[in-house]
Amino acid sequence: MTREPTLEALDQQVLWHPFTQMGEWDPLVIDRGEGNYLVDRAGRRYLDGVSSLWCNVHGHNHPRLNRALADQAAKLAHSTFLGLTHEPGIRLAAALVAVAPRGLTRVFYSDSGSTAVEIALKQSFQYWQLVGRPAKQRFLRLGEAYHGDTLGAVGVGGIDLFHRIFGPLLTRSIAIPRPDEDHEHSLAVLEEVLARQAGEIAAFVLEPLVQGAAGMLLQNPGFVPRVAELCRAHEVHLILDEVATGFGRTGSMFASDRLGVSPDFLCLAKGIAAGYLPLAATLATEEIYSAFLGRRADLKHFFHGHTFTGNPLACAVGIESLALLQSETLPSMHRVLPALTAAVDRMSELPGVVSTRQCGFMIGIQLASRADRSVGVDVCAVARNHGVILRNLGDVVVWMPPLSLASGDVELLESGTREAILHVQHPG
Ligand SMILES: Cc1ncc(COP(=O)(O)O)c(C=O)c1O
Repeated sequence: MTREPTLEALDQQVLWHPFTQMGEWDPLVIDRGEGNYLVDRAGRRYLDGVSSLWCNVHGHNHPRLNRALADQAAKLAHSTFLGLTHEPGIRLAAALVAVAPRGLTRVFYSDSGSTAVEIALKQSFQYWQLVGRPAKQRFLRLGEAYHGDTLGAVGVGGIDLFHRIFGPLLTRSIAIPRPDEDHEHSLAVLEEVLARQAGEIAAFVLEPLVQGAAGMLLQNPGFVPRVAELCRAHEVHLILDEVATGFGRTGSMFASDRLGVSPDFLCLAKGIAAGYLPLAATLATEEIYSAFLGRRADLKHFFHGHTFTGNPLACAVGIESLALLQSETLPSMHRVLPALTAAVDRMSELPGVVSTRQCGFMIGIQLASRADRSVGVDVCAVARNHGVILRNLGDVVVWMPPLSLASGDVELLESGTREAILHVQHPG
């Protein structure tokens, strides 16, 4: 008699996981979510220390979000946004425009951070074609940029480990050095590139305040406002990628709010539907949108769309999530932030920790590198045994908990990470 394989064995037979060396893959099967915790099939609970890849906002299995999803499912799970429309799609767009930086009046939906960025790149490119500036075809990005994994997004990426191999496939972009504490060098290079080449440049795409996947690298808050001025002066679009920083992560709804910057395009995903369903939005100004208007036969419209663009289930959750964020979750995050910041400060004192970086609920713990092993991977593996799910970016361990984190959760996040770091230094 053949026995049914375990889920772990079946996973290893049939799956190929993202960013995973399948040859060394050790599956952990998650059964359910309860607030800020994930629960495995044996009933073990783990604090979701990275918000299920930076997208969970209010915790798992939230009754209000569940209700919004179920109510919408009872009405309409999906109908295309190509040629039709629906209430959740319309109402979420209106709600996004109401909270977005001034001047962003048009919402184009898609389903991931990568597509949100691709769409901004393509819309910027087409805009310049439409307004008679066809030479503006190139894009600027920051050093060590990360904007997603589809080819257009990889073309404006600069993380060698992920992107180098695909070099021959890409539309290459121009790198502006990543700003350090003193960002004057980056700005000087930007100014020089713009003075020389602005006539060929469509847009500058960058993450404001924090470069997440680069290792939670912080910018001086003065940097993006100066970039915005330079871009405006040289007629180059500013695309702000707030896929990671959006929806309260840095402490305000968007990092752009804190910086007082209104970009030409704003890319949103991850937290937009609370981490429940895949949804993304690219917001643009009325000026950009207007350039695409005309008669059908003019063929000026934007020939881009995905099957699940504007999915009603995701939009319904997005509407509820935005309301919840404003009324409950952002205030709660601000109450817990001092305790989390104190924990980050204590982490920086640990042996084996070189430094910590924090902007709101985006935290990087920089570990001392070792030639013989990947300390980041090892720390995350051990933290699991202490009830905390973490993920590393090289030698950086990331803390990116749901914004609904409770003060008791901070203690577990800290103790689990501390024990893991100490264990990895002195195993046994
Ligand atoms: C800043 C930024 N942009 C884009 C992306 C890509 O988003 P997705 O994984 O949903 O395609 C990410 C993902 O981590 C991101 O952090």
